[in-house]
Amino acid sequence: MHPRRPWAIVVVLVAGVASGAEPQPRAPLGVSSCASAGCHAAAEAGHAPWQSSFTVWATRDPHSQAHRALEGPLAERIVAAIANRAGGGPQPSATGHPACVACHAPSPGAALREGVGCESCHGAAGDWVVAHTLPGWKTRGNAAGMVDLADPEACARTCTPCHVGGPLRADGATMEVSHDLIAAGHPRLAFELRSFKAGAPPHWRDRVALAAAGTVPAADVDPVGEWATGRIVALEAYLGQVARQSATVSGASGGLLADTWPELSAFDCYGCHRQAVAAADRGQPVATSRGGVRLEPLVWSLIDVAAPDAGAELTALRSDIERGWWLPPDADRLRGAAARLAATVRTGRTGDAALVRQAVERAVATTDPANWDETVAVVTMLEALLDDQRVKGMPGERTAAAAAAIADLRRLLTFEAQGSGATRVRFNNPRAHDPAAVRGALAAAAALVERLSTRGPDAPARPR
Ligand code: HEC
Ligand code: HEC
Ligand code: HEC
Ligand code: HEC
Repeated sequence: MHPRRPWAIVVVLVAGVASGAEPQPRAPLGVSSCASAGCHAAAEAGHAPWQSSFTVWATRDPHSQAHRALEGPLAERIVAAIANRAGGGPQPSATGHPACVACHAPSPGAALREGVGCESCHGAAGDWVVAHTLPGWKTRGNAAGMVDLADPEACARTCTPCHVGGPLRADGATMEVSHDLIAAGHPRLAFELRSFKAGAPPHWRDRVALAAAGTVPAADVDPVGEWATGRIVALEAYLGQVARQSATVSGASGGLLADTWPELSAFDCYGCHRQAVAAADRGQPVATSRGGVRLEPLVWSLIDVAAPDAGAELTALRSDIERGWWLPPDADRLRGAAARLAATVRTGRTGDAALVRQAVERAVATTDPANWDETVAVVTMLEALLDDQRVKGMPGERTAAAAAAIADLRRLLTFEAQGSGATRVRFNNPRAHDPAAVRGALAAAAALVERLSTRGPDAPARPR
């Protein structure tokens, strides 16, 4: 077990306690029960993050709009596409459609319209709402079923069912964004834990900043471990999703919408769309560094760095699926690999900062800058290494150049939203990508991060 990850111990303990008893159904209470001014609905200015969580969520967090997204014209178009596939039969409206509600309006009954409310992430509050207001709130709340979202594994497991894909709900609602939905205009799901935490308006304390300022112990904050855990849990969710898709095609009960294999959302978008949406739009020749059909690189890239102990099995699995990509993969093999991968979070060398540092040069050398997904995987690794230095006390003047280089790179990888949220900028869409610019920016950012990492926090700044 990695000594710098006390949360890993917590997870083992909690899992140990929980596995003894049948999980009880928890009672959800709705966002209004969190929203009194003395609890989480204070104004942002002049209050601690925990006091204004509701205010931030209600005014700026896209999750509070998740139900409303189902009322717009884009949602109508997406549902019309489902109707087409189903042979034009009548469909429920998007706000009540079993293909939409599990992710966009997960709360039951009247709370449907709150979208993705507090309890969708923190857990149904019926059993813990009182306990978490008492002294020792965190331990007491968690013991009564509150989800410990400061723990990267618990947090990633909370996000991935909606942001990667999840099992069929008891009432038959699906949690799948298939290529059909994407082609009809649904944004692509492209989840990365640290980026998505940073992408939502935070209603929590920034623990990297607090550690940098010396307010919380550096040993309690592990950005590289969080990065690795995020990658692992996202791939685990992806493997589970592909297993369900594959089982559905084979006639077993997967129960998801996509009843065809290959289900294209499991594959590299650029493998098919690069010519059309990237270089060819601007008349540039396309340099293809790899041939053949590939599985989605965002979830697979650098997994051997994040989870070295599962690397060999996963590499073999990936190449077997890619070699016979037109055949539904073996669902049991996928599930087995997912379970062993998940176990490495607790028992393996997950997120070892020294190993991750050593991998930077190779990662940059082998990354195809024309591939958005591969590049994003490296960028998030560089960001974690930079935050690792900040947590360890490297002053802002020393990290500024690397931070600016990473911000440049991110700008090159961030695209205007398609569809209804026209003013929103997304970090998740393989359009309008400029490989030459990305290649240069990636090399520059990696060199700066490597220099910081190898020289350590106490070394004097080297003139550039
Ligand atoms: C697996 C969970 C999931 C399912 C199922 C799902 N969605 Fe989504 N939807 C999301 C996520 C996550 C986003 C945000 C994606 C992002 O930007 O990264 C989103 C975004 C959207 C948006 C864009 C919102 C905006 O503000 O731009 C619309 C519209 C939408 N979904 C409609 C639908 C409809 C209609 C259905 C049912 C046919 C559906 N969704 C099914 C998870 C899901
Ligand atoms: C989309 C998921 C999501 C939703 C919805 C959500 N939260 Fe959170 N919340 C988080 C995450 C993730 C963290 C912890 C992040 C961390 O500490 O790194 C958190 C942390 C918190 C904290 C702890 C703050 C701190 O600094 O320790 C409070 C309080 C909180 N949330 C309240 C709420 C309330 C109230 C709502 C509803 C109005 C809500 N949250 C909705 C994901 C969510
Ligand atoms: C119950 C399903 C659900 C859960 C759980 C969930 N999300 Fe979301 N998330 C959504 C939906 C749906 C949207 C799109 C909302 C919209 O645009 O109207 C979304 C949007 C987002 C966005 C905005 C994306 C963009 O491109 O603008 C971020 C960032 C995000 N979620 C982060 C998280 C994180 C981090 C977690 C876990 C702590 C999480 N979400 C958990 C359903 C969920
Ligand atoms: C194996 C090839 C293949 C892969 C992989 C693939 N697509 Fe497609 N895509 C197609 C084809 C063929 C069409 C046109 C037919 C259709 O709409 O399904 C299409 C249509 C689309 C469309 C609508 C047409 C357009 O250009 O606006 C979008 C958007 C899209 N794909 C996005 C994606 C995304 C995002 C991914 C990765 C998650 C992806 N595709 C993966 C082959 C592919």
